[in-house]
Amino acid sequence: MNSKEKKFLENLINKYSKKQLSKNILYPLIDDAFSTNDILKGMEVMLSGKITMLEITQQFEHEFAKHIGSKYAVMVNSGSSANLLAAFALVNPRKKNFLKRDSEFLIPVLCWSTSLWPFVQAGLKPKFVDVDVNNFNMDMHEFEKKLTSKVKAIVAVHVLGNSTQIEEVGKIAKSRNIFLVEDTCESLGAKYKKRYLGTFGDFGTYSFFYSHQITSGEGGMIVCNSKEDYDLIYSMRSHGWSRKLNRGNKKKNANFNIVNDTSFNFINSGFNLRPLDLSAAIGLSQFRRLNSLVQNRSINRKKIISQLTHSPLWNQQFSFLEITKNIKPSPFGMPILINKKHLSKKEQFFNFLKKQGIETRIVIGGNFVNHPSIKIYNLNSKNENFPKAQEIEDRGFYIGLHPKPISNKILKHLEENLLIIDKL
Ligand SMILES: Cc1ncc(COP(=O)(O)O)c(C=O)c1O
Repeated sequence: MNSKEKKFLENLINKYSKKQLSKNILYPLIDDAFSTNDILKGMEVMLSGKITMLEITQQFEHEFAKHIGSKYAVMVNSGSSANLLAAFALVNPRKKNFLKRDSEFLIPVLCWSTSLWPFVQAGLKPKFVDVDVNNFNMDMHEFEKKLTSKVKAIVAVHVLGNSTQIEEVGKIAKSRNIFLVEDTCESLGAKYKKRYLGTFGDFGTYSFFYSHQITSGEGGMIVCNSKEDYDLIYSMRSHGWSRKLNRGNKKKNANFNIVNDTSFNFINSGFNLRPLDLSAAIGLSQFRRLNSLVQNRSINRKKIISQLTHSPLWNQQFSFLEITKNIKPSPFGMPILINKKHLSKKEQFFNFLKKQGIETRIVIGGNFVNHPSIKIYNLNSKNENFPKAQEIEDRGFYIGLHPKPISNKILKHLEENLLIIDKL
């Protein structure tokens, strides 16, 4: 594309794509996420006519793995698909010490639907762990109580850019020789002691859904450090195919019995979870500015908290998520807990905020055992209670954190309308 053509497309993009998502929503959960360059990169792929998975996906995987500090990365069409690959890798007969049916895994009860279901679909049995009401992640005390010899895997879910003591969890998993999957779909770019979340276990999974730290519309990534795991998820992503697995030394891949690179040789069970090169181009363009996106959202978070707590209207109406020690967070939403005194006004408050153009939503999937799907599969047969996750469900909500610097006007709007809860 020459510079004149590029200018023409940029003008077109500016004309059509810079409208607000909805004029009635002054402070949406999700702000317009795409830069002109992101859209141009996507258009280049469209114009090339080759939109399915090709070199740009490989390039994105390469840059992602390098930046995150993992040996391998495989792009997929969603964060849910990344979890699906992790789950089915753990039970795959090709994996060393693969898990047998009904093996138990620990998972925080404050989780997302597809943090949980892929592992259940793979035949594993969940044991829910309550969370810490201050940092919204797995409570380490509860975790250790549930960690019996029957537990063969841990699915740590990093909530809204924060984490539990993940280094400790990683050490425990290693010492017990059990698997650790980090569902990092809400926490791309967050670090524990300078190491990116998602790199402490066997697999780390990420989501590029529209509201997340970076987006390709839909999309995801799964990282791992062993070649065996990489080969497994690589072929399972794509029908269980052997294609391209004989890169480099053929002998090393002898157990895959590869006939040749382009043959229809199916070496394992599989799915089709492939992304489009179109998504990869947009995702990669965003990924290259991950640091500034994380920084802008973190600054916005600090500004909102300061605006609220330094306001003359501040009357301890809320408390805010506490960042776990040693974590450098990467939030895309700002969770807020309503003071117990005002809980009776919750519904009224949310309706009021909606009218004022401030969008809210529950924290992740709430206390997940409350969902009807849990009953269908009888996953909480003893009707266990999870008081802290329940407290977060009852008191918690979140507002968006946008990648662009927040204006003083919006800060004032949030202050005036959020802090009104004690006057309703
Ligand atoms: C913790 C967690 N895991 C997994 C997912 C699924 O990601 P996706 O929407 O890309 O399928 C989400 C979705 O937001 C999530 O919050």
